[in-house]
Amino acid sequence: MHFYAVAFKKYPMRKFSLKTLCALLLSIIFLGCSATKTATKSTDGKVVYLKDNWKFSRKVTGDAFTTNYNDAGWQTISIPHDWSIYGPFDKKWDMQKVAIVQNGETEASEKTGRTGALPHIGTGWYRNTFTLPQFKNGKRALLVFEGAMSEPQVYLNGKKVGEWGYGYSYFYIDITNDIIAGKENTLAVKLTNKEYSSRWYPGAGLYRNVSIVVKEPESFEQWGTFITTPVITPNAATVNIKAKATGSNIYLVTTIKDAKGKVVAATTNKTVSGNQYEQDITVAKPNLWSPETPYLYTATTQLFTGGVLKDEEIIKFGIREIKYEANKGFSLNGKITKFKGVCLHHDLGPLGAAVNKAAMRRQLTILKDMGCNAIRSSHNMPSFEQLELADEMGFLFLAESFDEWVKPKVENGYHRFFNEYAEKDLVNLIRATRNHPSIVMWSSGNEVPDQYGAEGIERAKFLQDIFHREDPTRPVTVGMDQVKQTMQSGFGAVLDIPGLNYRVHLYEEAYKSFPQGFILGSETASTVSSRGIYKFPVVQAKEKQYHDLQCSSYDLEACSWSNVPDEDFVLQDDKPWVIGEFVWTGFDYLGEPTPYDEKWPSRSSYFGISDLAGLPKDRFYLYRSRWNKDAETLHILPHWNWEGREGQTTPVFVYTNYDSAELFVNGKSMGIRRKSNATPQNRYRLMWMDVKYEPGTLKVIAFDKDGKIAAEDEIHTAGTPFKIVAEADRNTISADGEDIAFVTISVVDKNGVPCPTATNQLKFNVTGNGTYRAACNGDATSVEMFHEPTMKLFSGKLVVLVKATNNPGKIELEITGDGLEAAKINLKSIQ
Ligand code: GAL
Repeated sequence: MHFYAVAFKKYPMRKFSLKTLCALLLSIIFLGCSATKTATKSTDGKVVYLKDNWKFSRKVTGDAFTTNYNDAGWQTISIPHDWSIYGPFDKKWDMQKVAIVQNGETEASEKTGRTGALPHIGTGWYRNTFTLPQFKNGKRALLVFEGAMSEPQVYLNGKKVGEWGYGYSYFYIDITNDIIAGKENTLAVKLTNKEYSSRWYPGAGLYRNVSIVVKEPESFEQWGTFITTPVITPNAATVNIKAKATGSNIYLVTTIKDAKGKVVAATTNKTVSGNQYEQDITVAKPNLWSPETPYLYTATTQLFTGGVLKDEEIIKFGIREIKYEANKGFSLNGKITKFKGVCLHHDLGPLGAAVNKAAMRRQLTILKDMGCNAIRSSHNMPSFEQLELADEMGFLFLAESFDEWVKPKVENGYHRFFNEYAEKDLVNLIRATRNHPSIVMWSSGNEVPDQYGAEGIERAKFLQDIFHREDPTRPVTVGMDQVKQTMQSGFGAVLDIPGLNYRVHLYEEAYKSFPQGFILGSETASTVSSRGIYKFPVVQAKEKQYHDLQCSSYDLEACSWSNVPDEDFVLQDDKPWVIGEFVWTGFDYLGEPTPYDEKWPSRSSYFGISDLAGLPKDRFYLYRSRWNKDAETLHILPHWNWEGREGQTTPVFVYTNYDSAELFVNGKSMGIRRKSNATPQNRYRLMWMDVKYEPGTLKVIAFDKDGKIAAEDEIHTAGTPFKIVAEADRNTISADGEDIAFVTISVVDKNGVPCPTATNQLKFNVTGNGTYRAACNGDATSVEMFHEPTMKLFSGKLVVLVKATNNPGKIELEITGDGLEAAKINLKSIQ
């Protein structure tokens, strides 16, 4: 490990305290670790994606795995596919009668929407019949699953060829001896979701890609290549490629191209140790990868024997250096960088768990605008698509693995698989994704009950050692909720990165008690709100419930264990040893409808900074005002349509990056407010607490540091809904059968003023070369199905998803509603 020399030169041994030693060890391990990547989609025909013409059924009689089985009556679908997102919503699905101990509950009660109230429980079968011209006798074939929910049993041509446990794992099966060359093959996959196996909506089915990789006998090992950049200077970077390959007399030729496709370095050599090949290649004047400059290189490594090309890997990677140091924190390319991150569950709202790149790109675009620079894939393996986007768009990534180890949280959770699968699951996670420059930290667990007990410490070490063995370049964290316990037991001390979930009151003590010299807010906030809903009086509250099962968007409500954003901001801003935060969550997700876990029809979360449709809640602007340093934020809340509240106290908040502002109601000044340190809220929000409501205009004027007018904004009381308005995130999409345009629909009054409380029932019709895919209004209590072409507005808005077909051309979406002027929007798809 050449990293040692650098570190020891910098820090002479005799000066070390225990804390510094531990911290040094950490910086030794991760100093100089840098970039990497993993192969994305192969374009050379060796990876064949089994996307279309799948047969699917949940009502199976007989042996559905046999070749001659009659599946003619089954549904024809394409994957990625989530069988349960089509509903119907019903509180009976997976109703869990439990005490959620993590939430401090002691008595069991019925949790109706905990896993989304969608029919994911039970068995589903998928069958696909294919011929594979690429496969000839003498070649090898691997069947790759990027995730299958869950407990997949895999049959090829009537024979069981493999199985797995965890629904989030990537795995592959060697089918060389079972696939028939030149003939039809029948693949059958059985998936089973048990009740009480999740704390959130897991989805169901083949929700990520399935492919077959065809290889020569002399070829690279699947996920066996590891690219790092151990030495980086402004003049040159060393790119180290370690590849595992089978076959004799192999040599490798690697070419590195820059982002424009220009060859910048190449090497032909072979350094062999067993079946491992290693190359060092120098890239002059490297462009470094960072969230601001997500620069990617491409390494093409070709494998030859006797002058014949046998295999080729095309791997995108970045050049970047990460360090974690006591009292300094995390630095990227030498610059101290705080994680301004969000946690994300894997579902994509109205699309369910079925992976879709356009939906994820939209999420990341929204997060980028907020100034977010990091994602935590809570609490499981991220999709390959999400990592590719994080590399391309510039997000730091905390890749997590498990929500349970051996001790259960839910009756049928991951603890059933831990002993048999934990190592295999981690090995596949790490090997398949370690080349992504975006990944800067791993997580072996979230709030695992194994935080208690000596065996838990052993398990933490066991898992962390696997990460270190497979990837010595990145540290490992665990999101801990039992912070006191982990301080006393030594659990927190064994981790590379101590991650605290919530418990802001323990940060200082944890920092002093843990040896690492810094702490991470691995999960923060868990503030709850419903987009466009405001409750009075405006007061801070925990576990607050209302009759309409909504939460207030004044952003002052949280759970017993959690807090409002400003309390995290104080620590993030004032304590250099806090290396950042991952807010729970960037977007609302299906399931876990806290604080209405026991109330029907709540079926999705209230934690999101944006709602389930991806529409920003007010909180979005609070984070943006602090995180996005490049853009102006000036946002007024609440809306100003309060018929019946005339003369009553209706506080007004402004989220802005400016320090002070003046508020006017119908031209009358309500005074100037300036940010101050009086309370966390006063420090980050401008608040006029005693405004009396009168219809009309709310106007805010913000001032810069010199007191000069810097920006202004106003909102108006709207009249009755008159006309529908539609706006697409992208008007041109790809004609690839998967791309999606997200069209935000709202209504305005006669004067064009948006109607913030409208709940009109709308209908959608798509014509041309696109299809209606789904709609979502962000209402956590709605039981309207996403795929039906009608939905009510919630707080005046909803989003329609229009999907491309494989044919390029015009697409038209028409939106109608009783008594409203209809809207039409023209989109197009191109090849
Ligand atoms: C955390 C947990 C998350 C989610 C969150 C809600 O304790 O890690 O998965 O349940 O609470 O506040």
